[in-house]
Amino acid sequence: MERTQVAIIGAGPAGLLLGRMLELAGVDAVILEHRSRAHVEGRIRAGMLEHRTARLLEELGLDERMRREAFVHHGFEMRFDGTRHRIPMAELTGGCTAVMYSQQEIVRDAIEARAASRLPLEFEVGEVRLDGPDTDHPKVRYRVADGSEQVLACDFIAGCDGFHGVSRTSIPAGVLTSYQRDYPFAWLGVLADVAPSTFELIYACHERGFALHSMRSSEVSRFYLQVPPDADLADWPDDRIWAELQLRLGTDGGAPLAEGAITKKSVTAMRSFVVEPMRYGRLFLAGDAAHIVPPTAAKGLNLAAADVRLLADALCTWYESGDPTALDAYSDDALRGVWRAQQFSRSMTSLLHHDPSDPMEWRLQHAELKHLCTSEAAMRNFCENYVGLPAVGRVHRREPEPT
Ligand code: APR
Ligand code: PHB
Repeated sequence: MERTQVAIIGAGPAGLLLGRMLELAGVDAVILEHRSRAHVEGRIRAGMLEHRTARLLEELGLDERMRREAFVHHGFEMRFDGTRHRIPMAELTGGCTAVMYSQQEIVRDAIEARAASRLPLEFEVGEVRLDGPDTDHPKVRYRVADGSEQVLACDFIAGCDGFHGVSRTSIPAGVLTSYQRDYPFAWLGVLADVAPSTFELIYACHERGFALHSMRSSEVSRFYLQVPPDADLADWPDDRIWAELQLRLGTDGGAPLAEGAITKKSVTAMRSFVVEPMRYGRLFLAGDAAHIVPPTAAKGLNLAAADVRLLADALCTWYESGDPTALDAYSDDALRGVWRAQQFSRSMTSLLHHDPSDPMEWRLQHAELKHLCTSEAAMRNFCENYVGLPAVGRVHRREPEPT
């Protein structure tokens, strides 16, 4: 039987950032991931970091490539009724910016750093099972490539294994309360080999549905289109996607978008989901394992980072002093920020998407959009939520070894 202090299930952003924080504090951890490294590094997800998430990467020394490659945005644009409105986010929030650096870049940087530190991160593990998470001696059982079973004894388990993971579902029925809302829309996301047609993001509310122009680099643009939840990619050839983007993102007299080769397409369902509490005994849930936000405003990754910052602080405090207060407060502390982000993501989604079955809602959305784009107070309120909450939790550092 192997032993570690913290067993981390999942090598998404939550598991990897938690692993890095524990490493800096000198706490042992093993990360177990059931997919391959190539799969994890190639998964295309959202790409916008809140101020606090970008700062966390700096504190963790994972910011070198981000500093070189990422665009830093000070505002964004709202388009509706053929008009455009710039929202000066940084000006309205005391300088908070949004950093365009995508989830898989963070994952790549964090995996590389962990490999450089020669710390355990096992890919392609199978049949992960949590044994006694409600006892003082939890274990994780899993299979490795040769088919043999491994047992990892630990003090704590961090369930960072996403929405479909095993951690949340290992908790007995009746312990967790879950809240879920599905939306009557999905996002068709595309990556295109074309320079962005804009310096800042463009959110468009159009009768044909929402559209977003985002970006990954000076050569790669990212676009999203509202589509029905049962949309089939076969019905979305490239020329239809471009035609729809041109219509929805177009403005009166504005230049058309530059078009290029579409290299990736996928459809993502939109859901709000939360479980409470984010703890069961010595098992702590973080990130998508505990909550899902609709993708509007790109809060998912930022919430995962905020969770593990709190969790790492609480675990390190316990190892340093034996004080369980922060561990006991973890779920409530994390959920405060989660619900705030859930509320904003839901309201931004409702503001910008079109549900043709609800004409009154459509008129109300326009009233709100006009107010948002003309009232400084409304803009400031929107931006305060858009840029995210301040960081909570301390990044612990191992005492330097005596010389
Ligand atoms: N055993 C081991 N690993 C697992 C298991 C399992 N049983 N089930 C899932 N995993 C792995 C997945 O393969 C994935 O790599 O857990 C990881 C979970 O990562 P994410 O789904 O990215 O979740 P999280 O780290 O919470 O990320 C939060 O960032 O990736 C974005 O959009 C995503 O909003 C999300 C946010
Ligand atoms: C993205 O680039 O993936 C992105 C950006 C902003 C959003 C959502 C997604 O609001």
